Amino acid sequence: MNARDFPTWSDRLLTRVEQALVDWVPVDAPAGLGEAMRYAVLDGGKRLRPLLVLAAAEAVQGHAAAALRAACAVELIHAYSLVHDDMPCMDNDVLRRGKPTVHVRFGQAQALLAGDALQALAFELLTPEGDEVPASMQAALCGLLARAAGATGMAGGQAIDLDSVGRVLTEAQLQAMHRLKTGALLQAAVHMGAACATPALPAHTRAALDQYGAALGLAFQVVDDILDVTADSAQLGKTAGKDAAADKPTYVSLLGLTQAQALAAQLHTQAHQALDASGLTALAPLRWLADRVVKREN
Ligand code: IPE
Ligand code: IPE
Ligand code: MG
Ligand code: MG
Ligand code: MG
Repeated sequence: MNARDFPTWSDRLLTRVEQALVDWVPVDAPAGLGEAMRYAVLDGGKRLRPLLVLAAAEAVQGHAAAALRAACAVELIHAYSLVHDDMPCMDNDVLRRGKPTVHVRFGQAQALLAGDALQALAFELLTPEGDEVPASMQAALCGLLARAAGATGMAGGQAIDLDSVGRVLTEAQLQAMHRLKTGALLQAAVHMGAACATPALPAHTRAALDQYGAALGLAFQVVDDILDVTADSAQLGKTAGKDAAADKPTYVSLLGLTQAQALAAQLHTQAHQALDASGLTALAPLRWLADRVVKREN
């Protein structure tokens, strides 16, 4: 596979993920809930987390059906986190993925419930009935996703984020917040792809993929902080300039733009080095995804 093949590779997998989400996010949930859920998930988003799951699963020749379920499950948790992140009690945003946010379109109560239901649906997808996915793999995938989504991951990081408004954090504190609120789910995406391997991977390969996911996960939020300053709302599909307006500590407010960009580049190198140490060979998609995280413009 050479660099020109990345769009073909990602288009093929994105089509599969998109179709699976269309099939799995219900149309018929009661009283308009299904409409809000589908609005939150379908037609938008870069789908970076599903691609990470599938790229990692491909690198370890993992269970294909389990990997597709894991890819969609991570995206559902991510979509739920965005719905709640945008609500007036959190970041109070009106634009997401180029559309009005879920609470603007459907009201706050429905947005809250859509987030709740998407979270539960993620775990439903990971636990299909019958023998499609071995029980031990289902359990491992559920554990990884739960830990990355909850108090030790995204939700914990979001709590720190809200608690940090108007404060100056140390670099260590900012890093800890970013690793939880954003990094944990991206790292889990890689980990879940790797958990689709049978037999389980050697410890040094798992550790290398973990380091890759950690570096990429932090880089992702550093770049998110940078784009909030350097890009406009049309390009982002969400309101630019929100962090400074809301007095949130970010890598740009702490280090300045140039140093934040240097940090993203350093984390990009770390991600590549971790892959070099993994002992795996089919790594091209994971390499491209690291490049994409750092070079992205939205
Ligand atoms: C935005 O994530 C929220 C953060 C965790 C910073 P993405 O930039 O991946 O959002 P979508 O999924 O492409 O809309
Ligand atoms: C969001 O961080 C992290 C989540 C867990 C959703 P941000 O608040 O910076 O994300 P955006 O900029 O609104 O997408
Ligand atoms: Mg936020
Ligand atoms: Mg936000
Ligand atoms: Mg942001």
